[in-house]
Order: sequence, then C-alpha cells, then structure tokens
Amino acid sequence: MAKMWEGVTKAQTDKLADDFNSSISFDYKLYKHDILGSMAHASMLAHKNIISKEDAAALIEGLQGILEDIENGTLTFNPDCEDIHMFVEQVLTERIGDVGKKLHTARSRNDQVALDLRMYLKDQTQEIISTLKTLTLTVCDKAEEYKSAIMPGYTHLQRAQPITFGHQLMAYAMMFMRDIDRLKDAFKRINVCPIGSCALAGTTYDTDREFEAEKLGFNGIALNSIDGVSDRDFCVELLSCISLIMTHLSRFSEEIILWASWEFKFISLSDEYTTGSSIMPQKKNPDMAELVRGKTGRVYGDLMAMLTILKGLPLAYNKDMQEDKEAVFDGVETVIKCLNIFTKMLASVTANTENMKKAASEGFINATDLADYLTKKGLPFRSAYKISGQIVKKCTEEKKTLETLTLEEYKQFSDVFDDKVFDAIDLVNCVNRRISKGGTSVSSVESQIQAVRNALN
Ligand code: ARG
Repeated sequence: MAKMWEGVTKAQTDKLADDFNSSISFDYKLYKHDILGSMAHASMLAHKNIISKEDAAALIEGLQGILEDIENGTLTFNPDCEDIHMFVEQVLTERIGDVGKKLHTARSRNDQVALDLRMYLKDQTQEIISTLKTLTLTVCDKAEEYKSAIMPGYTHLQRAQPITFGHQLMAYAMMFMRDIDRLKDAFKRINVCPIGSCALAGTTYDTDREFEAEKLGFNGIALNSIDGVSDRDFCVELLSCISLIMTHLSRFSEEIILWASWEFKFISLSDEYTTGSSIMPQKKNPDMAELVRGKTGRVYGDLMAMLTILKGLPLAYNKDMQEDKEAVFDGVETVIKCLNIFTKMLASVTANTENMKKAASEGFINATDLADYLTKKGLPFRSAYKISGQIVKKCTEEKKTLETLTLEEYKQFSDVFDDKVFDAIDLVNCVNRRISKGGTSVSSVESQIQAVRNALN
C-alpha cells in the first residue's frame, strides 16, 4: 500500500515487512487519546496563527466525527494502516480533504506516540487506584467482620502466636495503601507532556507547548525534546508498581488457597468464585485465586520486557519502542482484571471461625504468653522461656495442652505459678493483651481499620 511517507523512497514495502512493522492491531487502543491530542494540537496551531482558525475548526470537527464513529462502531480500524496515528490522519484527510494534511504541522509521530501513551496511562493509573481503593475498603469490611475471630498467626508456616483474622487481613490493607501511594507518585512523572518535542530536536515553528499541555490536563512539559521522545521510564515505573500489586495479590491468593483447603478449612469461598472438577465431584477449586497468582508471572514478564527494550537503546526514538505498548497494555489490563475479580471473591469469603479457633488451641501458640506471665512474676525472660519450653515438652509427650494442665502440674516447674496462669494463657486474653500500636488486639485492629478508612475517604 502507498505510504504517507512516500517521497524519498517509493514507499512500497514488502507485505511481510508491512505486517511486521504495523502496530495498529494493538495501538488502536490509543485511538481516543490520539484524537484528543490531535484536537489540542490543532487548537494550538491556530492559537499561534500557524494555521487559520477555520482550518483548526475543520480539523477538530473532523476529528470529533472520527471519535464518534469509532465509538458507535461505524468506523473500524484499517489493518493496512501502519499505526493508529496514520489511521486517524488518513481517515481525516479522506473526510475533510487537504486541510487534514495540515494537522501534522510542528509535530512528529515520535512525540505524538509518547503523548498518547502518557494520556492513556494517566487514565489507567487512575483506574488502578480506584479499583485498589475498592479492594482496600472491602478488606476493611472483612476485617471488621472478623476482628475478634481468633486464628493462629504463623511464622515459617508453623503456628506461632494467636492473632485475629481481622488483624491478618489488615496486613494486606497496609500493602494496598502503599501501592496506592506508589501509583500516585508514579503518576506525577507520567503527567509530563512531551508534545512539541517533535521528531527529537524541537521545531522551527513558534509553538506554545504549555498551551497544549494545559489543554490536555498535564502538569508540565518535558524540558528536553530528546528526552521527551526517548523517555519510557514512566512505563517501567508503572509496571513496577503493578508488579508489586501483583506480588501482594499473589501472596493473598496463596493464603486464600491454603485457608480454603481441606487441611485448613479456615474459610469457604462462594460458589460464584470457585469451579468444580470434571471428574472429582467433591472438588471446589479456588481458580480465581490461582489465576491471580499465576498471572503475576506474566506481569513480571511485562516489566522485564519493558526494561530490556530500553536497555542500551540509543537516543532518541527507535522502532524498538513500539514494543512498549503490548507490555504496558497487558500489565495494566491484567492488574485491573485481577483487582476486580479478587475484590468480588474476597467479599464472598466466609470464615469458619470454629476451625480457626480450634487450630489456634492446638499448637501451643500461647507458649509466649506463658513465658510473659512468668517474666511478669519476676523471672528473667530467658529462664521463663526455658521453663515454658519444658512445659510444652511435657504436654507434647502426654498429649495435653497448656489449658488442660493442672495448677499442681505447673507448680512442679516453678513455685511462682498461681491460678492466674489460666487467665494468662486464655486465647482471647492473649489476643486482647496485645495492645501495642499495630498489635492484634480488637481495639488495635479497630484503629487500623479506622485509619485506613479515613485515609481513603
Ligand atoms: N507506531 C509507532 C510506535 O508505536 C509510532 C511512532 C513511529 N515513529 C517513527 N518514526 N516510525 O512507536
């Protein structure tokens, strides 16, 4: 097909080369931002008398028509166009005639594509932040529901100390709050307008870059035109934020999968978010959580792809950079899908508080509290720790628990024991005595929930 860049070359490329070079099969996703960017560009050209007001009006009206027709489905993307930028310009020229050819004055596809991508990612970043907020508030609601549900807290996946399910859930809320913070920070650097950098060196026209940036809602302009067209740091930053969100979702998914297993039976997931097996009738599989965990791998891949594309790339634009889009699109779309499904799945979780409590009663997870009791009675912590260990050993050998030992049996280990020991090792008391800020007591979890809700509202 004849190319817009026909001039120095015959612009007749091989069909295979055309296909290889073309990006419209994926960059069509930038259509809206490309058109809005072009409208602002036309306004700026008229504002600086580079084109007439009439020409700008015709360009803007033509662009508006193209936007509407894409959205109502009457205009479909032509796969023969090299990319979305060429497509829009070509349709515009077909529709409004030679005026359409004035649109590309004082710009290049190099600054145009950088602009489109930034505009697109600004919207997507806001979308990710808003889905993260919904998820975090859902976590708070669940934590509130289960703020007094006692379960074992684990280290090394060994029962360690009693906590509440609410406390465990709020740990994830904290991760998501940091994710939101990181995205807001990354947003600042996405929010810089590259248009007007042109091919790489700026332009001989007397443009007004600030005018265009402001019209498009940017916070400022790229101060170096070479950097303006070469920079894709914002893609790496965003993918890195997204990768960390996926890490958090993946850890959470892993716990949900464990908790929903027959071995734990701490939670059940609603049928809406589980699947059955085609052969084993008893199965209720946590596919959503497994897929979120699995998709974490592809998002890390997107980040690695982006970093590798940029590594060793000379300034300024190189065609390698066309490869940025599929990586960021995939990362962004995947994280949004995962956040949405994860939120719904989490909202459907019901905890089996009986089983949680039972598991908490079985693993000597109040042994630290026993040692603390002795320490408060005046023993040095190390000695208290040793005595408590001996008591746990006795219980294990005799298949008893700390709760079922008699006071006489306790006194065999130290004569400081009195009947207050049973209060000290009571699981509810163990939890509620952990009043240190950020600890597992009900009141501490309540303040965590309040703090997160306040920050989000
Ligand atoms: N489709 C290209 C991309 O996504 C647009 C920029 C092309 N610029 C160029 N000089 N060939 O990177």
